Amino acid sequence: MAIREIKKYPESVLRGKTEPVEEFNEELQKLIEDMIETMYAAPGIGLAANQVGVARQVTVIDVSLGSDKEALIVLVNPEIVHCEGEESSEEGCLSIPGYTTMVKRFTKVKVQAQDRNGNPVEIDGEGLLARALQHELDHLNGKLFVDRIGRIKREFFKKRYSREKVGSSK
Ligand code: NI
Repeated sequence: MAIREIKKYPESVLRGKTEPVEEFNEELQKLIEDMIETMYAAPGIGLAANQVGVARQVTVIDVSLGSDKEALIVLVNPEIVHCEGEESSEEGCLSIPGYTTMVKRFTKVKVQAQDRNGNPVEIDGEGLLARALQHELDHLNGKLFVDRIGRIKREFFKKRYSREKVGSSK
């Protein structure tokens, strides 16, 4: 396993489309292992493959930050099939270090995906897990949480980001 470099806003790979995984081969297993290690090392509660520069539909999530062995979720080709409710909560992203803000998300989501071996899986998420699922699936569609805030807040973020170069500080 190896820790990979996390791409930072505004790198273009974070904005591109990701391709579905078709072959569940050794290369995919290596990518997943590296993503898990990179997520825990950061530390973060989720990581999408394009955040390490691989434009594939793969994400890893662990809202327990590694404290609960059962909490690790690996999703390949995930898709939200049901959502309900709405809540705002503080959100951040490993690709935008040093910036958090309130983001409105669905309270509950159901996601269909494949596991690392290609078997179908279904995940019901609520609260923080639902938020993490939506955040990571957004990544796989080239979307960042700063796209989901109001226009004025977003302008403020862009100004602050270009002035402070948040990405290179911590
Ligand atoms: Ni993120």
